[in-house]
Amino acid sequence: MANDQQVVGDANRRPDYDHSNNANQASTAPAFFSCWDIHAYYGESYIVQGVSFNIHEGEILALLGRNGAGKTSTLRAIARTGSPMVTQGEIWLDHQPLHNMKSHEAAQNGLALVPEDRRIIQGLTVEENLKLAQIAPPLGWSLERVYELFPRLKERRTQEGTTLSGGEQQMLSIARALVRDIKVLLLDEPYEGLAPVIVDEIEKTLNIIKAQGITTVLVEQNAIRALELADRAVILDTGTVVYDGSAQEVLENEELRHEYLAI
Ligand SMILES: Nc1ncnc2c1ncn2[C@@H]1O[C@H](COP(=O)(O)OP(=O)(O)OP(=O)(O)O)[C@@H](O)[C@H]1O
Ligand SMILES: [Mg+2]
Repeated sequence: MANDQQVVGDANRRPDYDHSNNANQASTAPAFFSCWDIHAYYGESYIVQGVSFNIHEGEILALLGRNGAGKTSTLRAIARTGSPMVTQGEIWLDHQPLHNMKSHEAAQNGLALVPEDRRIIQGLTVEENLKLAQIAPPLGWSLERVYELFPRLKERRTQEGTTLSGGEQQMLSIARALVRDIKVLLLDEPYEGLAPVIVDEIEKTLNIIKAQGITTVLVEQNAIRALELADRAVILDTGTVVYDGSAQEVLENEELRHEYLAI
């Protein structure tokens, strides 16, 4: 087992302190982003059952698991969407307690969720979708910078957003997050329904975003692609963490992949 693999279900290790970086700061530096013992319900259904993990700044974390494992619910719990209802747990982003915030406050503090359905606003052009995202401060990337990253969006700036191809809509939904000042990008199945060549393009942009210091949580059914891109992986099963460690280790561990990812 890799040294950086957290033993699953290790309730004694509270993950809001980063033990892995600079030895001088090891016991005192809070992790950049941490979820600690998150529990969440849809009505009576207990879905997120004590999820904990840390993310280092600038990392890409693949959040994986079979269908129904609780990946989307975990992202929604982190983004404070209100559904599922979080009943317990702490979420810290850059020293800010997101668990005490509503979704718009979490967004103002640098959290961006790009949901699976992408939520492109009907009746608005590409550029209008981007400008609408810029209405509330704090602002992030300029339109020029976004268009540099996504030349296709520039070409199609006057086209209605909902008429874009699936890949272009995914680019627009990521671009819409970037025009706000974000620290953590939560992506729910960004590769879904896209041809491999478009997945290549999205992957490239995620690497560029990473190089800018933005931290990403990537939920993907296409686990191999996600693991190849990610630094670390967390695997969920029935709403609990069953693996927390290096992405490479998951790629190399057939048993683990087979048991929890069915690949
Ligand atoms: N709005 C809801 N009301 C009740 N139960 C829900 C709701 N949304 C999800 N669930 C249930 O919560 C569990 C976890 O669902 P979730 O969508 O988080 O899984 P997932 O890991 O994202 O799966 P997938 O890979 O299929 O997207 C499932 O059993 C699902 O049926
Ligand atoms: Mg999902």
